[in-house]
Amino acid sequence: MALRSIVAGVGSALPVRRVDNAELAATVDTTDQWIVERTGIRARYVAGEGETTATLARDAALKALEHAGVDAADVGLIVLATATPDQTFPSSATKVQAMLGIDDCVAFDVHAVCTGFLYALTVADSMLRTGTATTALVIGAETFSRILDWEDRGTCVLFGDGAGALVLKAEKDGGRGILATRLHADGRHNDLLFVDGGPSTTGTVGKLRMKGREVFRHAVVNLAEVLSEVLAAAGLTSDDVDWVVPHQANARILDATAKKLGLPPEKIVVTVDRHANTSAASVPLAFDTAVKDGRIKRGDVVMLEAMGGGFTWGAAALKY
Ligand code: UT7
Repeated sequence: MALRSIVAGVGSALPVRRVDNAELAATVDTTDQWIVERTGIRARYVAGEGETTATLARDAALKALEHAGVDAADVGLIVLATATPDQTFPSSATKVQAMLGIDDCVAFDVHAVCTGFLYALTVADSMLRTGTATTALVIGAETFSRILDWEDRGTCVLFGDGAGALVLKAEKDGGRGILATRLHADGRHNDLLFVDGGPSTTGTVGKLRMKGREVFRHAVVNLAEVLSEVLAAAGLTSDDVDWVVPHQANARILDATAKKLGLPPEKIVVTVDRHANTSAASVPLAFDTAVKDGRIKRGDVVMLEAMGGGFTWGAAALKY
């Protein structure tokens, strides 16, 4: 009988420090009103001393393992999505592995910026279904605050730090779990959202640069298309969907995408107001928020989607 990856547990973690728009407006040439009207963001969390992508990932992973009732020792695969690793190498996945006290497993990072979690989920799902491991930790974790240009008001108000994790288990197909995933990339748009540094070019870490309006235009089209594609692949229609957990970049993108697909706004999980855009962490962080506050229940059909630098974009359909 075929195997399917089921979501056994979810978890998330945020830095200690919360920064609201008013606090930001004290040092950046912006206003709470502009940020709320253009993005829906009211606050974000910013990593402090001792908080890194790997420590946030570890904290999210521990909560997901606890929620799943799974021992760290039983994890055979860690796939960690990030564009802000602790170091150029080793991978943050192996750092998390060591922090969890796992002596031997498969562990690596996936890099697809804001779509990273969808890429990581798809890779982990494939590896579970083909027998590489029976239990996987799929993590999205970021500290974008460390690659922001705090002089660029067009970008620095948009992002935050955090982490989210899912525990996946391979099970004999009983109709629940990951039903379908779809991924895309179009590297012709590399120059619309990028970091202007790197180990093989400037030798520095660099800062995030974005042509926001262009990204916005592509996001709505690409996300609506990939959601339709994954619905069809899973044999579902938008009426079957209980919840959409989108990448949290901008409340206006979430509204426009939902409208294009004819999905009512009350089915869209929105956390961008309290977490801002946490890149690869945003989908699992929003998923965990909606599970723990009782919105997403066992048996619900949930769609995940994201779009980010590259461009990369993707979606998944699952029965929780
Ligand atoms: O996660 C990866 C995917 N990323 C995204 O999906 C981001 C997509 N893009 C967006 O969300 C929006 O394009 C932004 C929120 C980034 C910008 O919104 P916009 O409506 O496209 O504004 P804009 O960049 O066209 O700027 C409009 C005005 C400009 O002033 P002028 O030239 O009209 O006088 C900006 O200088 O707003 C000004 N502005 C600001 N004003 C106050 C830009 N940033 C700020 C700011 N505070 N923080």
